[in-house]
Amino acid sequence: MTILRTERLTLRPARESDAGRFAEILSNWNVIRMMRLAPHPYTEELARAWIETHAPEREAGSAHRFAIERDGRLIGTCDVDEIANGVGDLGYWLEEPAWGQGIASEAARAVMAFAFDGLRLGRLTSGHAADNPASGKVLTKLGFRRVGQARVWSTPRACEIDQIKYERGRP
Ligand SMILES: CC(C)(COP(=O)(O)OP(=O)(O)OC[C@H]1O[C@@H](n2cnc3c(N)ncnc32)[C@H](O)[C@@H]1OP(=O)(O)O)[C@@H](O)C(=O)NCCC(=O)NCCS
Repeated sequence: MTILRTERLTLRPARESDAGRFAEILSNWNVIRMMRLAPHPYTEELARAWIETHAPEREAGSAHRFAIERDGRLIGTCDVDEIANGVGDLGYWLEEPAWGQGIASEAARAVMAFAFDGLRLGRLTSGHAADNPASGKVLTKLGFRRVGQARVWSTPRACEIDQIKYERGRP
């Protein structure tokens, strides 16, 4: 199991005892509305079931998901998932009090390096809701380029939204 460390953060596999914090963070509409597939309202039971999928996904090589800790406090997640044919998808979310301090960029940079150097992926994709420019900023700071736009279903909003798509290759 991989643990990534950055200047301010520890990125480690999630454990069952994280379920309560995940549910607390994802109960905030401002957080969950920006996620594409997370159900709303989000519960501790859903978090526990999600965490249980992480080890099998990791063993299958289809996803590597990290809980983000700062000063011992769980504040979000960052992952590379949908891994197939040397390509993976980068994603992240943080509790609202942690926004605006460069934390998503710091975590995503570490996971991107793990994906390219550790997993030897050739390309990463990502995407964000059109009304989520902060996420676009994180991606462009990491060297992603905008490659398109699509109508996608948003599970929490229960409607179709515009999604901006990005990608970048291995350095
Ligand atoms: C999107 C999210 C991960 C960003 O986290 P963060 O730690 O605040 O991001 P960072 O501080 O690393 O970078 C955000 C950048 O966007 C900028 N930004 C913030 N709000 C913005 C806005 N409304 N318009 C344009 N840029 C904005 C910030 O200034 C910063 O850029 P800078 O470093 O050049 O100043 C966080 O807001 C979040 O978890 N949101 C809810 C879940 C989510 O959206 N997940 C991503 C789904 S695609």
